[in-house]
Amino acid sequence: MRKQIAAANWKMNLSLAEAEQLANELLKTDHQLSADQLAIFAVPFPYLLPVKTIFAGKTGVYVAAQNCSAKKNGAYTGEVSAAMLKSIGIEYVLVGHSERREYNHESNAELAEKLNIALENNIKPIFCCGEPLAIRDAATQNDYVSTQLKESLFHLSAAQMNNFIIAYEPIWAIGTGRTASSEQAQEMHANIRRVLEEQYGAAVADSVSILYGGSVKAANAVEIFGQADVDGGLVGGASLVATEFAAIINSLKQ
Ligand code: 13P
Repeated sequence: MRKQIAAANWKMNLSLAEAEQLANELLKTDHQLSADQLAIFAVPFPYLLPVKTIFAGKTGVYVAAQNCSAKKNGAYTGEVSAAMLKSIGIEYVLVGHSERREYNHESNAELAEKLNIALENNIKPIFCCGEPLAIRDAATQNDYVSTQLKESLFHLSAAQMNNFIIAYEPIWAIGTGRTASSEQAQEMHANIRRVLEEQYGAAVADSVSILYGGSVKAANAVEIFGQADVDGGLVGGASLVATEFAAIINSLKQ
């Protein structure tokens, strides 16, 4: 069975003291992770090690970076490389979040480079895709997301796609309180799996966890995660409240 995953994206929030408090509060919450379930916390760079230390020894709990450079190393002031992340024991990285695509002009081609360099360093990417509202209104979202996948992923081998994580985050549902309906989420997740199957075959397509992101909260997680092709969520705002995120972890399919 593919992994069911509750991923938190803290984005650019919290002081170090607040981040440590949130991590410690999460440990005290009543949450269960079975063998096929993971909780992954994408935290700001300065908090990677402190949060990793707090979660040390917790089975199924991982810390992720929110980004890495497309370059290997060198004169790229302010950037953080995949090799640096690996050197501090980070195992996951978000690649292609819509906020980075928009504010940092990350193209599908650049994201392909980021995937390469993450995988070269044995860091598992959580590849984000999703359409803006105008595309959804024009009902061309399936083609739009398929193109994102083809242009950033399809140079990867089937072996590299094994246990890959994709997060579908419709931009119009991020931070807006306007969640995609569970039918809309399922329809897109099935589309993504179909596109993967065409390129890589059914076994690979079935092994990829596809997370939904966009205004996920405790109150809607069971319904969304209950869809056949939804393998958990990538959660922004609600991941900043320990009890909310614990409830979201407990909403993962068994
Ligand atoms: P919200 O859960 O705040 O809508 O954010 C979703 C998101 O962008 C997670 O990466």
